[in-house]
Amino acid sequence: MKRKYVAEPYRIKMVEPIRVTTKAERIKLLKNAGYNPFSLRSEDVYIDLLTDSGTGAMSQDQWAAMMIGDEAYAGSKSFYRLEGVVKNITGYEYFIPVHQGRGAEKVFLPQLVTHEGMYYISNLHFDTTRAHVELAGARAIDCVVEDCYDIDHYHAFKGNFCIEKLEKAIAEKGKENIAGIIMTITNNSAGGQPVSMANMRKVKEIADKNGIMIIIDGARYAENAFFVKEREEGYQDMDIIDIARETFSYADAFLMSAKKDGLVNMGGIIAIKNNEHLYNLCRTFVVPYEGFPTYGGMNGRDMDALAVGLMEALDENYLRHRIDQVRFLGDKLRDAGVPIQYPVGGHAVFVDCKSFAPHIPYDQFPALSVTNAIYLEAGVRAVEIGSLLLGRDPDTKKNLESRMELMRLTIPRRLYTYDHLDVVAEAVIHVYEHRNELKGYEFQYESPILRHFTSTFKPL
Ligand code: F0G
Repeated sequence: MKRKYVAEPYRIKMVEPIRVTTKAERIKLLKNAGYNPFSLRSEDVYIDLLTDSGTGAMSQDQWAAMMIGDEAYAGSKSFYRLEGVVKNITGYEYFIPVHQGRGAEKVFLPQLVTHEGMYYISNLHFDTTRAHVELAGARAIDCVVEDCYDIDHYHAFKGNFCIEKLEKAIAEKGKENIAGIIMTITNNSAGGQPVSMANMRKVKEIADKNGIMIIIDGARYAENAFFVKEREEGYQDMDIIDIARETFSYADAFLMSAKKDGLVNMGGIIAIKNNEHLYNLCRTFVVPYEGFPTYGGMNGRDMDALAVGLMEALDENYLRHRIDQVRFLGDKLRDAGVPIQYPVGGHAVFVDCKSFAPHIPYDQFPALSVTNAIYLEAGVRAVEIGSLLLGRDPDTKKNLESRMELMRLTIPRRLYTYDHLDVVAEAVIHVYEHRNELKGYEFQYESPILRHFTSTFKPL
């Protein structure tokens, strides 16, 4: 029997009750939260699609592995077990654990910034990656393909580097001023969009020609490998782990927020191919920032859970279900005419709120308006990724206009069922059918940095 979306490849052994609220309650709760979904308590959220980061469910094997965690300060068995798995997947020589992705960025990225006026180039920098590039005294340049902004148009690999933009950036800034090339796979900010192997190979060629290092920002590298297998000529018969290994062969280092494809609630990875000098630098700086190099901010038991989770996330049946859940939600919305980033990526459905609510100007935050409306409708929490998140120009203080106004419906791993996603689809479709009633927002309190997290609003 062939199904369009595969059913859950697991049974449920333990359940966590979630609370259903009434619309009248949600109206009060959202007002009390200053119309900012980040300020809602999770107990007041029915289906939480804020992020896929650290929000997934662990397996019985991961919970069992936690019981054998070795909490030694130095040289624990848990460290060596995790190191074995990371080396096996990446083929790299060196591994350092860190507490999460941004810990890896904080330790690693400054090491390649050797003089003033340097740049990191990426397909698209994730927010924290960009922040750590700038904290290290460098600047971030994004070189994603233009297709990524053509929301309704199909492209198998919307996360790809635009090779012309990349070559132009290197030529303009000078190869000696490029600290590194960061390949974000999948490309979170573009909609969890994959990067093709052909594109990575080409980027590697350019990097080699110019003597520049490649760093993989691979929070969702297993999901990327799945898309390569599904969509790229020549990979259909290859195992996911071998596709991942080929990916790693095109880079010099790997930074990972293990909260995604590590299937754990907290954790991170720095892995380095064969550069002993760079490894020694990172090992030195991980001590004051994160912890001794064999725990780097992680518990022994958490390293064991991660060692198991990394392998589970490479299981093709798991991945097919995972991506199918996202596609299921995307298809339902698209069939109802709701504009979304198409095709959907690996971890979320990105709703295009510029076309959803064209009557709301960018500085009244259309994607926040849609996000708040679906919370009111069904207790679903999503997240704005648009002009609110982008912030103000540091010089003119004007609200910057984002190229895309998106609401991200992020699907946690192994957490919700298709029925939950049906509820989400119904809520979004209902709001879409009443989109003319949507109103914009203005600030009540605007926090000076990373304003999307803590600001409060008034509906207009
Ligand atoms: N890189 C990418 C591509 C990410 O998506 C994230 C986190 C990080 C680095 C930083 O990792 O959170 O463990 O420190 N993304 C989360 C999200 C927060 O919601 O997309 P972290």
